[in-house]
Amino acid sequence: MSGEVFALPGAAPSASAIKLYARETAGFAERLAKTVELLQEAVLDHGDGLLQSSSLGAEDMVITDLIARHKLPIAIATLDTGRLHAETLALLPQIEARYGLKVAVYSPVNDAVVTFVRVRGADAMYESLALRKECCAIRKLEPLSRMLDGRTAWITGLRREQSSNRAVVPFSEPDHQGRTKLNVLADWSWADVWHYIATYDLPFNALHDQFMPSIGCAPCTRAISVGEDFRSGRWWWESEDAKECGLHKSHSNEELKTGASA
Ligand code: ADX
Ligand code: SF4
Repeated sequence: MSGEVFALPGAAPSASAIKLYARETAGFAERLAKTVELLQEAVLDHGDGLLQSSSLGAEDMVITDLIARHKLPIAIATLDTGRLHAETLALLPQIEARYGLKVAVYSPVNDAVVTFVRVRGADAMYESLALRKECCAIRKLEPLSRMLDGRTAWITGLRREQSSNRAVVPFSEPDHQGRTKLNVLADWSWADVWHYIATYDLPFNALHDQFMPSIGCAPCTRAISVGEDFRSGRWWWESEDAKECGLHKSHSNEELKTGASA
């Protein structure tokens, strides 16, 4: 692979994400060791109550690999909103084939989706913030509550570097329902994530090679340009502050000022 940016007629521009981003930087080994330690402690603390919530993005593929590599008894689950890219869903059989691990898939209630689409339209998310949030509530939040039912802790791939709203993400925090949310890659950089992916030759979402660092549902994700923020391709028509779907309460700048969740 040349690593150069190139485009075929009619195809999205692409470049090797590994060549673009993977870099070993000072402190990587320590950050990795800390993540493994957090995962091992979480197993001791929560046992069967522990779950990895995977979007199948680059960070989550790293966490799944660590779970498999260290033979940790941690269930893995994903929310299939019904609007994910085929490239995202293609990772499910790859995870099963590579690790022998089954990812539990939680989908929205069909009747709720059908009614919303009939009344509001398939692409209502572009019309208003309220409709976008309604779509996220039906397709993500309701299945999330079923996914977390009976669990005491969940593991996410949230990182401080992902956005200013996430700049204070701690390794461990209570979620809004009293569970523990473990952000085991909180202090990893994007270069760290890709250094790990390159080192262990992990499977990853092919859309990362098309300038989509942060990937959600297809209608709400687009490629970014050089110099744009990591999450600028998510809900790009909305203001920076609105750009969360409700899976994670905002780690706001107010907290940054007060140090409330550090
Ligand atoms: S989002 O809130 O804007 O969608 P983002 O895509 O940055 O979140 O992902 C952050 C973390 O949220 C992921 O690392 C993962 O733990 C969780 N997450 C996001 N989307 C999903 C999904 N579809 N299924 C399961 N977990 C998810
Ligand atoms: Fe709906 Fe977009 Fe939210 Fe996905 S991200 S649930 S398509 S509004």
